Amino acid sequence: MRLFALLFCFLFCTICNAQKAAVPPMGYMTWNLYADKITEGDIRSIADAMTANGLTAPGFNYIFIDDGWQGGRDNKNNIIPDAKKFPSGMKALCDYVHGKGMKIGIYSDAAQLTCGGYTASYGFEEQDAKTFAGWGFDYLKYDYCNAPDDWQTAISRYSKMAEALQHSGRNITFGICEWGNRSPWLWAKKSGGQLWRMAADIRDKWQSTEPPKTNNDLHHLGAGILDVVNINAGLYAYAGPGGWNDPDMLVVGLYGRKGPSGDLGGVGCTDVEYQSQMSLWCMLSAPLMISCDVTNMNDTTKKILANKDIIDIDQDSLGAQAQRKINKDGWQVFVKPLQNGDVAIAVLNTTPATAAMQLQLADVGLGANYTAKDVWTKQLTKWNKNVAFSVASHETKVFRLSVIK
Ligand code: GLA
Repeated sequence: MRLFALLFCFLFCTICNAQKAAVPPMGYMTWNLYADKITEGDIRSIADAMTANGLTAPGFNYIFIDDGWQGGRDNKNNIIPDAKKFPSGMKALCDYVHGKGMKIGIYSDAAQLTCGGYTASYGFEEQDAKTFAGWGFDYLKYDYCNAPDDWQTAISRYSKMAEALQHSGRNITFGICEWGNRSPWLWAKKSGGQLWRMAADIRDKWQSTEPPKTNNDLHHLGAGILDVVNINAGLYAYAGPGGWNDPDMLVVGLYGRKGPSGDLGGVGCTDVEYQSQMSLWCMLSAPLMISCDVTNMNDTTKKILANKDIIDIDQDSLGAQAQRKINKDGWQVFVKPLQNGDVAIAVLNTTPATAAMQLQLADVGLGANYTAKDVWTKQLTKWNKNVAFSVASHETKVFRLSVIK
């Protein structure tokens, strides 16, 4: 009987998690640009801009409110928003965002205070989960500042909130944010999370100037796009429908704007590097969280973010994270199988100069005779056994390959 109950629970939980985040969530996260100065007016403008400028159409349908919204607790210990920043209240804001056909996320932390020093949820998990559900939130990012370092406490605090969300009366996706410090890929899904940050906060830069000795060094060196890719490349086995490695926000289009992403050497990237981030995040089946100013984007940023061909690779229903097949002489080659039998291949040149890639398809586990679509130029070519093309410094070329029958 007990075995049956366990099996039922396992199956039921697996199904629930698969329904939540069956593909990586996509949307806008407020932290990099607004930090803790976020207001309801900003959220409304973001929702308006995203629906008007064509970002919701390819799937960016969430707005994730990050730290800084909190105003403490009322005399019944209910968590409340800052009344100056959110004078209409959270229910009205959720209704507004839902009215735009979008979903909305909120932020808290598994301690008494968040990373920004605001009221957090430790000890109030059930009450806060019910409050978030009652307001109409669809997602919770749960941070780990001011909490004990050990794995056991982290696992138990995250499990507690996951359970509270499951009993909240609303389907709320759960994002675990302990920055990879305790290898969450090993336990986060079992603990009720659908995604887990796997590295330090990303900064608006290509690479850390000093190579990190351990992954945790990136917390003080500042993680760049390539640093995060280098960690995530080893984690492909843990990703799949209902559970994703989260390499943090897209810095695309920030151009060194001041704010958290500008700290620790976040001086900005080139458009080639921003496009590479989009390519690599999609190959690695990452949640796609825009963080630049969507109310004022240039055409290049829009083109990078709203490219349906690359987004389709991220959102592919097979949910296989790309494997890095080559990491040698400054080249990185990633291969990602897709649901309809196609294969996506990405070729990144990490060297400081344009270089010629000559690839034997067999070396990356591929066969012969493909139609290759360059997802950025849209050019179609035939690939058979060997291919050669040039790749600019820090550029990532991505091709979708279909076997010619
Ligand atoms: C941590 C997280 C960030 C952001 C801030 C908010 O640093 O990793 O993504 O949520 O806290 O204070």
